[in-house]
Amino acid sequence: MASDRIEFIRNGKVEILEGVKPTDTLLDYLRLKEANYGTKEGCNEGDCGACSVVLGREVDGEMHYRAVNSCIYFVGMLDGQELISVEDLSAKGEALHPVQAAMVKHHASQCGFCTPGFVMALFALYHGEDKPSRDGVAEQLAGNLCRCTGYRPIVDAAVEVCDDRMVDKFDERMQETAKLIANMPKQDLFIGNGKRFFAAPKSIISLAKLYQRHPEATIVAGGTDVGLWVTKRLMDLPKVIYIGNVSGLDHILEDDLCLNLGAAVTYSDAEIQIGNIDSDIADTLRRIGSKQVRASGTVGGNIANGSPIGDMPPILLALGASIILQKGNEERMLALGSFFIDYGKQNIEQGEFLKEIQIPKLKQNEYFRCYKISKRFDQDISAVMAAFQFTIIDGVIKSCRLAFGGMAATPKRAFATEHALKDMTLDEFAEGQVEEMLDQDFSPLSDMRASAEYRMLVSKNLLTKALTEISDEIDNIGVTSTRVVGNRAANWTGSSRL
Ligand SMILES: Cc1cc2nc3c(=O)[nH]c(=O)nc-3n(C[C@H](O)[C@H](O)[C@H](O)COP(=O)(O)OP(=O)(O)OC[C@H]3O[C@@H](n4cnc5c(N)ncnc54)[C@H](O)[C@@H]3O)c2cc1C
Ligand code: FES
Ligand code: FES
Repeated sequence: MASDRIEFIRNGKVEILEGVKPTDTLLDYLRLKEANYGTKEGCNEGDCGACSVVLGREVDGEMHYRAVNSCIYFVGMLDGQELISVEDLSAKGEALHPVQAAMVKHHASQCGFCTPGFVMALFALYHGEDKPSRDGVAEQLAGNLCRCTGYRPIVDAAVEVCDDRMVDKFDERMQETAKLIANMPKQDLFIGNGKRFFAAPKSIISLAKLYQRHPEATIVAGGTDVGLWVTKRLMDLPKVIYIGNVSGLDHILEDDLCLNLGAAVTYSDAEIQIGNIDSDIADTLRRIGSKQVRASGTVGGNIANGSPIGDMPPILLALGASIILQKGNEERMLALGSFFIDYGKQNIEQGEFLKEIQIPKLKQNEYFRCYKISKRFDQDISAVMAAFQFTIIDGVIKSCRLAFGGMAATPKRAFATEHALKDMTLDEFAEGQVEEMLDQDFSPLSDMRASAEYRMLVSKNLLTKALTEISDEIDNIGVTSTRVVGNRAANWTGSSRL
């Protein structure tokens, strides 16, 4: 029997919500139902962070906190978590929370519109594991915009308060909160009826059955794409199946050869394992959306949406990743390249869902590079995303996979160029014009992010850059340690980070 109400923790108590609509957002719940006007609505599309709230998840008897954008977070997704909004940090009569006090001390607010969002992003940082550096603070705040104060005092406040953390009331009641969450019902959630519902199955079997019964339903993993269909395109999504609580889609399994990710694993949960494959990937991950976006968004969603400008598909194509899809009890495995058919058309049947992503790790003689080209360093969609993997033995390119985003209607490999590079020496590449082969592989479009000419030129340059870097790396083996740091500076496309 499924539950028809969501349960979550707020201010140390269990809250129960009934009659939740499929796409009610957490921001609307806070502002319109709870009259908690501290949480602001700015862009309503996950970009500005004014709506940031903190969600707590119970992990082994402890609470783990992360900031999310409440404007694109459906309220049903709250089930089984702790909700903390800016109102909860310091009740009437209580002293300000240390994060708030530091913001006041450093004059880190002027008009104040953005301040609750900053405070909540910093609250999550305050409860994180490490003492953050200034760079760490900047990364945490990449998804929070302030139009008046200037970021220096905000970063000053953050560094100071995280340097000298005190136990707050959330720490004091952490075990009690974790216990309340651990004791919450474990059954599937289904709110609504056969025509309109929000459902959150807890097992793969429940998900498969429900999706077969309602193949026209919208699957939501993190909602960082789907949320915008609702808030910006004003789409009515009558049937929503949230997969974030499905046991069996949440695994991160790895051995020396492969990393397997359940389709509901968020970027934040897997960032270390994915980033460990190559330092360029770690650098790119930090530039996918913001902390808030990565706390909800999934690699699975980045693949399933089929977007030609998603950042992970080119990386995964270059690494030779595969995916597992499931429909009912049937599973099938697919090379990722066969998943993307055309713009908006993927190799997935009605009622079929993405279950797992299998990512081979780099082996000896395999060299990887990837580059995200966007107008802003942080929180920007790519104009071009390029990812390359080469197998090079004795200076000869034995094989390669060159994958691009932003160059075609789908994420796509450059097969003609790959063919031209096969069995070529690095010296021959340096002399020749192989990058011109990319003209045969792609005819990109012009749009607001870049012109077709720019896209083509930058792609050719990136291929040259990758092989030049790799050539240097091979020459240096045994002389200096290679690739101690990633290519962060190379990825830099202009930024005002502090
Ligand atoms: C402010 C902002 C910044 C962003 N920046 C970037 C960026 O820098 N780079 C980038 O690549 N993207 C970016 N995005 C887009 C988005 O965050 C990513 O595409 C993300 O990976 C989507 O994952 P999700 O779990 O939120 O997907 P959702 O929104 O939940 O779903 C996306 C699509 O996939 C389908 N889907 C999800 N999971 C499954 C499944 N298991 N089986 C079948 N279908 C499924 C959904 O039905 C939907 O069609 C940004 C988004 C925002 C709001
Ligand atoms: S209102 Fe801008 S991120 Fe939510
Ligand atoms: S203080 Fe005005 S927008 Fe930040």
